[in-house]
Amino acid sequence: MRVYCGKDYEEASRIAANLIAAQVIMKPDCVLGLATGSTPIGTYQVLVEKYKSGELDFSKVHSINLDEYRGLSPENDQSYRYFMNDNLFNHVNIKPENTNVPDGLEKDAEAACKKYDAVIEQSGGIDLQLLGLGHNGHIGFNEPADAFAKSTNCVKLTQSTIDANARFFANADEVPKEAYTMGIGTIMQAKTVLVLVTGSGKRDIVKKCFLGDVTPQVPASILQFHPNFILVGDADALGDNFNAFL
Ligand code: F6R
Repeated sequence: MRVYCGKDYEEASRIAANLIAAQVIMKPDCVLGLATGSTPIGTYQVLVEKYKSGELDFSKVHSINLDEYRGLSPENDQSYRYFMNDNLFNHVNIKPENTNVPDGLEKDAEAACKKYDAVIEQSGGIDLQLLGLGHNGHIGFNEPADAFAKSTNCVKLTQSTIDANARFFANADEVPKEAYTMGIGTIMQAKTVLVLVTGSGKRDIVKKCFLGDVTPQVPASILQFHPNFILVGDADALGDNFNAFL
């Protein structure tokens, strides 16, 4: 595990964006695994800045997002497809046809998951996977469970995740109860995994995930076994817990 600590959200976002930019510069036709949620918004803003200043070219980049709510259309402003268009894709020169998000409108869960696994396989594999971290240690929408999910799966969201995401909806009842998510096995196959974690509210869970026991009850804990795992946090999230790695 490599750890980088920014003094605040802006600095942590810039560190994460620099690592992603380095990946794109080193391999212009790379496959980026991308995340939604509040945490990566600042990172995407820096990537957009870098594109606009001519530092970055996304014309050959492919992207594969982690997850999508089951039942939401790309036009729904709470869908993760909408989020990605709004926060990144519409502002850089990535080709729309090179961007992938699970199909929230596919009613047949098995078909939706198979289709997404085929997309991932055809991409040749993810070079760098960006992840946020849920308050219960989830990555993608892989919630605490008895086993680590290998491939794309349809999950029932836990109440803690529904409550955490209710801030984006009119109320908790409107949060979809299911989602399609890339599996943990697929995440582990990414060549590099970058977890970005910010804010004091994540301090306990980030410690539990990366300094505690590896168990499917804390899904992100498996990343301790990833050979190229990078943790980027701000001082509020990391506290003094990761000083030995800095
Ligand atoms: C988003 C995702 C989730 C979030 C996590 C943290 O695509 O897969 O695992 O990364 O819920 O969300 P925020 O960043 O909003 O705290």
